[in-house]
Amino acid sequence: MKTYLVTGAAGFIGSNYVKYILGKWGDDIKVIVLDVLTYAGNLATLDDELKCKNVTFVRGDIGDRDLVAGILKDNDVDYIVNFAAESHVDRSITNPKLFLETNILGTQNMLDCARQAWLVGKDAQGHNVYKEGKKYLQISTDEVYGSLSKDFDEAHDLVITDDIKSVVEGRKDMKTFGEKYFTEETPLAPRSPYSASKTSADLITMAYAETYGMPINITRCSNNYGPYHFPEKLIPLIINNILQGKKLPVYGKGENVRDWLYVEDHCKGIDMVLREGRLGEVYNIGGFNEESNINIVKQVIAIIARIMHEEPEYQRLLSCKAEDINEGLIEFVTDRPGHDMRYAIDPSKIARELGWYPETPFSVGIEKTVRWNLDNRTWVENVTSGDYQKYYEQMYGK
Ligand SMILES: NC(=O)c1ccc[n+]([C@@H]2O[C@H](COP(=O)([O-])OP(=O)(O)OC[C@H]3O[C@@H](n4cnc5c(N)ncnc54)[C@H](O)[C@@H]3O)[C@@H](O)[C@H]2O)c1
Repeated sequence: MKTYLVTGAAGFIGSNYVKYILGKWGDDIKVIVLDVLTYAGNLATLDDELKCKNVTFVRGDIGDRDLVAGILKDNDVDYIVNFAAESHVDRSITNPKLFLETNILGTQNMLDCARQAWLVGKDAQGHNVYKEGKKYLQISTDEVYGSLSKDFDEAHDLVITDDIKSVVEGRKDMKTFGEKYFTEETPLAPRSPYSASKTSADLITMAYAETYGMPINITRCSNNYGPYHFPEKLIPLIINNILQGKKLPVYGKGENVRDWLYVEDHCKGIDMVLREGRLGEVYNIGGFNEESNINIVKQVIAIIARIMHEEPEYQRLLSCKAEDINEGLIEFVTDRPGHDMRYAIDPSKIARELGWYPETPFSVGIEKTVRWNLDNRTWVENVTSGDYQKYYEQMYGK
């Protein structure tokens, strides 16, 4: 039986990950969730999982040395997966210090506690020896690589090499807006306080591998989307606003391109790296799907308008008329400072080494995401009360 310590698992990707590993490994694993429950953490997301006898929840900060050391002392943890972070770029522009504290110092604390808990001694050459089968996985982001240029106004078909084609089964609609991609060798060049803090966390993770011989991996993923996504991020924000008949704020002209990765595909990739990834390696995890923000917004409008037309029972969720759901809702707002133009991940390494690829085409993932948001209004309403309202007004006005 493997024991996982999953931090930040009351947030978007971490909660999906806990659901994924429990679905895959069932009673063969034990899961400890560590989360301090910031505005982005919602324990209700894990309601069903917390009823399982092999799942426990600890409320606390990844930067709390006594707490983390205590968890590792009381439990023979095999895998630490560190999702916990301040994750929203816009918030990092208003409060950078918090991002450095959580994302850098919190990560260093997790690593240091793991080092102490897992160390068994030294080998004949004086190198640290750790308990067998332990691993620390740092969840990072493609934003550490900075920004790529956008070479085409509209998406081109993505051409993948023959060896990757042999891994990728039945995936259609792979798109790109440029000639270059982020690989694991791309120099790190973060441009926001958020991405700078995540880059620092990656570097300290690598330093623990080099200096102390710690068993680690780092995964760097592109933009995730899917169920349980906090509605300050683009896709759930747009869905939510459409239902409420509100304007749809889009930065600049909406030209910025992101590579969209369905969260369940990401969770699968993380678990493969954890169990099979070569020690000390970085793995990029991407969606094979680049899309501009404006096209995302237009697609979400079209899907919701279609659902309201074909399945009128959903109109009960609307605060506006179904016929008012159209592109006229889009409102361009002043771009944020240092807004990266394009991110595009080359996930060839994880495909070649571990046989992973993003299985969900965007057309399928976005339909599932919209429907999840329509079918789970109570969850959305709970997380959009209180602090969220104040935040929204601060960022986008009333
Ligand atoms: N969402 C994306 O598209 C995306 C893309 C690339 C990388 N990432 C990375 O993936 C990870 C998870 O992202 P997400 O979107 O799920 O984030 P999220 O903001 O939805 O969730 C973060 C979680 O961490 C918890 N947390 C914050 N500070 C903590 C602390 N000091 N101690 C313990 N828990 C704390 C929060 O309560 C929350 O539950 C992050 O490290 C993020 O940088 C996310």
